[in-house]
Amino acid sequence: MPASTTGAAGAGRPGARASPRVAGQPEGTHEPLAEFAAGRLEAAQVRAMFDRIAGVYDLMNTAMTAGLHHRWRERAADMARVGPGSRVLDVATGTGDLAIELAGRVAPAGEVLACDFSEAMLERARAKQRSPEPVRFEWADALALPYAQDSFDAVTVGFGARNFSDLDVGLAEMVRVTRPGGRVVVLEITTPTRPPLSSFFALWFDRLVPALGRLAGDSQAYAYLPSSVRRFPPPRELAAALAHSGLSEISYRLLAGGIIAIHAGTVAYPPQPVDPQR
Ligand SMILES: C[S@@+](CC[C@H](N)C(=O)[O-])C[C@H]1O[C@@H](n2cnc3c(N)ncnc32)[C@H](O)[C@@H]1O
Repeated sequence: MPASTTGAAGAGRPGARASPRVAGQPEGTHEPLAEFAAGRLEAAQVRAMFDRIAGVYDLMNTAMTAGLHHRWRERAADMARVGPGSRVLDVATGTGDLAIELAGRVAPAGEVLACDFSEAMLERARAKQRSPEPVRFEWADALALPYAQDSFDAVTVGFGARNFSDLDVGLAEMVRVTRPGGRVVVLEITTPTRPPLSSFFALWFDRLVPALGRLAGDSQAYAYLPSSVRRFPPPRELAAALAHSGLSEISYRLLAGGIIAIHAGTVAYPPQPVDPQR
């Protein structure tokens, strides 16, 4: 169930400045390149794309989902099962909305760490932060997280897993840094298979989203979005990938008529050695 075979962990660097254009994109060209249309980009291209669209990202989210994305993040936070005092990591946090939702739940004694590899997205996230919120935004690559094993009570990713250049590595990292008994949550767009939603989805994603992308001045990024959703594993396959990464008690909820999937699982306790004396 490969997400992609391209790209490498550790792409980019802390403090890197926003890239003026996507790697591999000829200057002055606005036609989607084949990789964008195929929804398959290398890590450096993904990072450069989000650096570029950071300024319109929140507005586009609200326009594309009629504001419903906030509710989907709330449901994802519910599935993380965190409360006051919990320590949470939000991976690929972007402009930070899921992290901020989680921060409200872990206060006053808890902490949310939120990381991303696009400095421009992180800048937007930091600008939203209100001082009493226990959330810290920092640069990190989701495929090589700089945190120790078992560091968090829950680890979440919202609309980011689809962009990982290697999904299995990204999931394995999320599981590694979650303590046994802790939760891993993946919120993603998914492709509905049954009409009438499947027809609406095709219209929305293949016509409306690219048109909004052209209005926002980035037809490539918003041509990449529907293609990246289509090549992402459907809910049952994603559930299998989560099981493969070491999670148990896996469940998923479909929202918005099957356009949104929220998967969650619990990190299994390591097997205890059997005492031969007992
Ligand atoms: C579609 S945005 C989602 C942002 C946010 N989580 C949300 O709910 O709106 C995807 C984010 O994933 C980040 N991303 C993709 N691959 C990453 C990686 N390997 N390491 C860190 N961030 C990554 C991008 O920089 C971008 O900010």
